[in-house]
Amino acid sequence: MLTKKQTQVLDFIKAYMAKHSYAPSLEEIKQKFRLASVSTSHYYISKLQDAGFLNKEHNQPRAVSTVGTKQMIEIPILGAIAAGQPIEAIEISGETITIAKDEIGKQGKHYALRVQGSSMIDEGIFDGDIVVIRKQDVAENGQTVVAVIDDNEATLKKLYRENGKFRLQPANPTLFPIYRDEVEVRGVVVKIIRNLESQLDQGQSRDEKYVRKIDYSWDYRGEKTKSYTHGIHTYPAMFIPQVGRRLLETYSKEGDTICDIFCGSGSALVESRLIGRNAYGIDLNPLAIFLAKAKTNPINPQKLTKEYIALLDRVEKITDKEIKRPDFKNIDFWFKDKVIVKLAKLKKAICAIKDETIQNFLMVAFSETVRYSSNTKTGEFKLVRIKGEKLEKHDPNVIGIFRKHAEKNIAGMAEFYKDAKKDSWTKIIYGDSSKDNGIKANSIDCIVTSPPYGDSRTTVAYGQFSRLSAQWIDVFEDPNDASGVDNDLLGGRATKNLIHTLSSGYLKESLEKIAKQDEARAKDVLSFNLGLNECLKQAHRILKPGKYFCLVVGNRLVKQVRIPTDFIIAELAEKIGFTCEDIIVRNIPGKRMPIKNSPTNIVGALEETMNKESIVVLRKN
Ligand SMILES: C[S@@+](CC[C@H](N)C(=O)[O-])C[C@H]1O[C@@H](n2cnc3c(N)ncnc32)[C@H](O)[C@@H]1O
Repeated sequence: MLTKKQTQVLDFIKAYMAKHSYAPSLEEIKQKFRLASVSTSHYYISKLQDAGFLNKEHNQPRAVSTVGTKQMIEIPILGAIAAGQPIEAIEISGETITIAKDEIGKQGKHYALRVQGSSMIDEGIFDGDIVVIRKQDVAENGQTVVAVIDDNEATLKKLYRENGKFRLQPANPTLFPIYRDEVEVRGVVVKIIRNLESQLDQGQSRDEKYVRKIDYSWDYRGEKTKSYTHGIHTYPAMFIPQVGRRLLETYSKEGDTICDIFCGSGSALVESRLIGRNAYGIDLNPLAIFLAKAKTNPINPQKLTKEYIALLDRVEKITDKEIKRPDFKNIDFWFKDKVIVKLAKLKKAICAIKDETIQNFLMVAFSETVRYSSNTKTGEFKLVRIKGEKLEKHDPNVIGIFRKHAEKNIAGMAEFYKDAKKDSWTKIIYGDSSKDNGIKANSIDCIVTSPPYGDSRTTVAYGQFSRLSAQWIDVFEDPNDASGVDNDLLGGRATKNLIHTLSSGYLKESLEKIAKQDEARAKDVLSFNLGLNECLKQAHRILKPGKYFCLVVGNRLVKQVRIPTDFIIAELAEKIGFTCEDIIVRNIPGKRMPIKNSPTNIVGALEETMNKESIVVLRKN
């Protein structure tokens, strides 16, 4: 369904193309329709693309072309649905909308509803929007559903099953969830059509500057994420490989050189190798560097298996006298004595492997073994010790754990070895992405990355997660340095005060709200954003003009204030010399993240923090 204004923009593009044989620029569309900004032009282009009237080829300055052949489908708008207090369910309105068929998937029957209320604003569903629903009477945890409760009252909420009950969760931090024993599901949201037209034409206020586009096709719910070498080691907040690949395929081409400036365990780098991109990865956590190298270095699986079998044989023969106990602080607190002995034997046997690449690869399975055989709760990213009777009974089978991981990893490497492009390279740099790491200016074709969600102390403690492994596998000259990693990562050191020159209204607003409640937390947030801004500048330096920088980010909640990191990045980046081309919102079905915390620090006041993330697409001007 095209609105009047969208039809006018489409007609203008068609006429322009007929005259010039190429499309008008965003700036020309802006001028023609007296729009407030090029992002408003971009909004219209996206709408026409979403509706199937325009194609887009990226990496080209005037990159739209008209199409007329997409298969369209007419969907009835059945009435209104409350994103707020439930209202009387669904009545027929007689209206329809027409959208491209591939926007909503091939299967199932669909209907649309007009949204009333603001309980789903954090999902990007606003008052007046239209949601397209796929009819179904079951839903997975976390899906946004049309739910009918009580006496035929319908509401739009996220559905969770908990302790035999249903929780209907609003996506608005100011509202409470609804709990019911019974809920009737009438369908799942598959597409949101924003009603921004009137606001966009005014276009002046900061709130309409950027548009979040919900796109469930980025969720990859239920898809395999541990193929190839992706599953060889746990790491917090890893990329879903499908997301990394799709971004790389959309914004770069074979033979390009890409970079992940916060490469973590190297998921994007693995994908780049599989699809023939050369890649740089940068990270400041030594364990991440170790993992990324092991994941991206193809090894002949036959050679690997041979060394592995020899290693199992060797470890049996090592006597207690031959081993050296590692010497780091609190080792006895985190490991039982007999575990230390077994781990030390295993490490000695691995270190005897002459081929360094094979040695490192098997050391990855050893690193997982360290985590699983330590006295820590393995479901946590922070170091939390098992307690009481559980600790007494804790008797891990160190060699058994190692074998399980090593064999799974070898199978993953066999897949990777077969499919990795032999003429592509990967270079991994231990460094701080807010500084110059020696990558030449204007040399990178695409940057795809996922920055930390906030400072390590209050969000994901990368350093803490990595500490025990890092201490055992000698990635530090002095293993006691391992505990300092978190301080060096983005936001690791709070600022002295709240004075800054960062040019982001969204950041300013968030800082003011947080500082009113807790100045120290506001300083953490500022420190993180100051670091991030320096990283954006470095990214701008290394990227070629006209090329794309994609960041997968979460909008975290601090002191009940939702920080729109996606919008903040867009604002900061536009000052540096990027244009924000797109902000896509995806659900996080399987990403390992702490999904709950207590923002108020009141026991029991749990709230979800990270169940979706934004993909910010920037282009260097
Ligand atoms: C969200 S994780 C990236 C995960 C990665 N995409 C993966 O699949 O494993 C963010 C990473 O940023 C790194 N990091 C934080 N501050 C950094 C900085 N200043 N320079 C480089 N890396 C940094 C952390 O060590 C962490 O590995």
